[in-house]
Amino acid sequence: MDEDLIRLITGRKSIRKFDPEQKISHDELSRILQESCRAPSAMNLQPWRFLVIQSKEGKDKLRPLFYNNPQLLDSCSAMIAILGDLRASDYKDHIYNRAVAEGTMSEEERDKEVKLISELYDGMPHDAHLTDVSFNSALAAMQLMLVARAHGYETCPLGGFDKNQFDATFGYDPARYLPLVLIAVGKPAEEGFNTVRLDTDQIVKWV
Ligand SMILES: Cc1cc2nc3c(=O)[nH]c(=O)nc-3n(C[C@H](O)[C@H](O)[C@H](O)COP(=O)(O)O)c2cc1C
Repeated sequence: MDEDLIRLITGRKSIRKFDPEQKISHDELSRILQESCRAPSAMNLQPWRFLVIQSKEGKDKLRPLFYNNPQLLDSCSAMIAILGDLRASDYKDHIYNRAVAEGTMSEEERDKEVKLISELYDGMPHDAHLTDVSFNSALAAMQLMLVARAHGYETCPLGGFDKNQFDATFGYDPARYLPLVLIAVGKPAEEGFNTVRLDTDQIVKWV
């Protein structure tokens, strides 16, 4: 058993006040995001997209949409918005051609997968598509929180922002991009508080 990994997971707490002096470099954030994207996704379509908000201008743009304590926004090293891309399947050829080029898949397997993606996603009911994109992107969001921790940072996931205004504010096409959650990242300036979890006998059924 990997006790370090268990500690990394069970020791995570949402942090709502960060040290504003601590910056994260572009290179390190890129690495954190790349590692987070090892999350699994349906048909490996990777529908998550990230907007990294680090500059004062970026934070000022977000501020009117931000329902949480402004101190959280101001003090974090980066506020990372995770959006779901409803046109993620446009990347199917790119993804599967690369798999062939890298020798992990035959051309026949690629053609089968690409055809299946078209059958599944072209004409998928909108509600099912929203669920698909949200569910898959949430896996990357969780992974991001844990990877950031492994790099020595803490995080806070935030749903409290105006999702209806987000796309227009940051220049995304609202018909395509679904703003899902913000993840504040930085060095903590306070301890996170302890939160309770339901017991397994309340949430698990065994057959
Ligand atoms: C999707 C999502 C949205 C959240 N939105 C907010 C938020 O807007 N403001 C906030 O202070 N915490 C927010 N949280 C953090 C939760 O309150 C927190 O995860 C929960 O209480 C458990 O605490 P822990 O993260 O410290 O384990 C959010 C968490 C998730 C997963």
